Amino acid sequence: MLNIEPSGQACGAAIRGVDLSKPLNGDEIADIRAAWLQHHVLSFPDQPMSDDDLERFTQYFGDFGVDPFFDPIEGRTNIAAIRRDADETSPLFAENWHSDWSFQKNPPAGTCLRSITVPPTGGDTLFSNQHAALDAMTSEMRAKFEGLTAIHSAQMAYAPDGAYGDNDEGRSMAIRPDESARKTQVHPLIREHPETRQLGLFSCMGYIIGFDGMEQTKALPLLQELYAWQAREEFQYRHRWQPDMLIMWDNRSVLHCATGGYEGHDRLLHRTTIAAFRPS
Ligand code: SIN
Repeated sequence: MLNIEPSGQACGAAIRGVDLSKPLNGDEIADIRAAWLQHHVLSFPDQPMSDDDLERFTQYFGDFGVDPFFDPIEGRTNIAAIRRDADETSPLFAENWHSDWSFQKNPPAGTCLRSITVPPTGGDTLFSNQHAALDAMTSEMRAKFEGLTAIHSAQMAYAPDGAYGDNDEGRSMAIRPDESARKTQVHPLIREHPETRQLGLFSCMGYIIGFDGMEQTKALPLLQELYAWQAREEFQYRHRWQPDMLIMWDNRSVLHCATGGYEGHDRLLHRTTIAAFRPS
């Protein structure tokens, strides 16, 4: 029987009463999926796990997603390392709000992240509930965004001249920038969650580079206004890491953002993505 303890913040719950180092039964998987859809971010404390366990857990919820621009860790195809060494001075990875790989045609439904080395202080991961962000808009604000089609691209991050491009030196993570990052993909800005049918805002400025049919001079201020709104503290859950912890989040419902504050300490997590949900 799962023990589900909501964070008391805008999303997130801690799950106990399950051993992720062993295969799960159908009821456990169904209960975890239901909790994931309800709370959007689940943490599983005190779970010593191997990479095999991480892969098995991920596949209970879908196929592996396709990770562009990262090399996987050695010996694996679907696990990437989110890594920062103690002496690293490059800008923090992912210290901006985003929904993973939202520039793909079928972005990953979820992401799993398993802690291996946790710094003694800092390195929290922030989440922002995008159903709550949409619901809290005034009708006047919402009217500005209703019906917009967002243009997504990885270019600002992963093109050769992007933030993690050819000039990004001294990074321990295996990021591989590529010209293909300039491709674009459209998604509705306000869309139904494919499983819960709840409306939410999908992704944000960064991977969203404009709106279909709108001049950039109009789109950019709108994107900035939206980003500031999406990131408001009232929509957030602050995840504090412990060793041997797994989290999974729903990229269709939340944005996330890395934080620093652990200079001089290593941080290492292993990550998989869960491919888009396909109704049977
Ligand atoms: C990520 O965006 O996948 C990384 C989050 C983190 O490092 O806290």
